[in-house]
Amino acid sequence: MPRFAPHPDRRPAVVSGASSGIGAATARALAGLGHPVALGARRARVCADIAAEIRADGGEAVALPLDVADEDSVKAFTAAAEDAIGAAEIVVSSAGDLSADRIHDLDSAAFLAQVQVHLVGAHRLVSHLVPGMVARGRGDVVFVSSDVVRAPRTRMGAYVAAKNGVEGMARALQMELEGTGVRASIVRPGPTSTNMGLNWDPDVTGEVLEEWVKWGLARHSSFLRPSDVASAVAAVVGAPRGAHLSLVEVQPEAPLEQR
Ligand SMILES: NC(=O)c1ccc[n+]([C@@H]2O[C@H](COP(=O)([O-])OP(=O)(O)OC[C@H]3O[C@@H](n4cnc5c(N)ncnc54)[C@H](OP(=O)(O)O)[C@@H]3O)[C@@H](O)[C@H]2O)c1
Repeated sequence: MPRFAPHPDRRPAVVSGASSGIGAATARALAGLGHPVALGARRARVCADIAAEIRADGGEAVALPLDVADEDSVKAFTAAAEDAIGAAEIVVSSAGDLSADRIHDLDSAAFLAQVQVHLVGAHRLVSHLVPGMVARGRGDVVFVSSDVVRAPRTRMGAYVAAKNGVEGMARALQMELEGTGVRASIVRPGPTSTNMGLNWDPDVTGEVLEEWVKWGLARHSSFLRPSDVASAVAAVVGAPRGAHLSLVEVQPEAPLEQR
């Protein structure tokens, strides 16, 4: 008798923020491993194109509109996703955005908007999908956090606060889920080449990078690819039952030095 029943053959995966970057790469990676995937983001049309590509490659995928800042949207998304691909065995919370403001220049509404998307948005997915996982006695919830939790950066204070909230929630959830068979995990990427930050004014981007260098951050010029982070998510959810990759930080490898 094994200590744990193995993962079921069919493990549907729900991915938020799947229209771009890490979420899109994760949906593709999980589909490539045979998981049916439900892709959610506000740009449902973009998710639909990615889902069509996945299906053309032989995978199973549906695209559904999702705004994690809106409770009704999350409720409708999670219900429609489970109707379409079956009860969620995997949830990946990757939706997010980022403004380049100093904390004292942000008004409270803008601060709250970051917390809504990153922290409350992640909790909304948990509240709608994790009770079913607990009832079934298995499942994986992955929070895409950020290395800013370990090393805060200037000009993203609301984001830093929200991601600290995400990891605090995830840590408490790990304790509450202990013994239920449901694994909550944190994947903490370093700098990754996605659409995040591309909407910043180029002058502001220059200033921000100088500040990061001043604070000992941005030590080399390499970025991760979204697929690198997706590989980490796939490893986390693919870990055999009985093993839990509770926190995985992924950093870009520095360029090779000429010797
Ligand atoms: N890029 C990095 O260097 C880096 C580093 C560490 C952690 N991260 C984290 O990685 C995650 C993914 O970011 P990314 O780098 O892949 O950026 P990205 O390419 O900009 O993707 C962000 C995704 O989040 C979605 N999104 C934003 N607001 C949403 C909302 N209210 N409801 C639903 N979806 C929403 C976007 O889709 P729509 O606009 O279509 O809604 C998009 O699919 C984020 O949690 C981010 O904090 C990124």
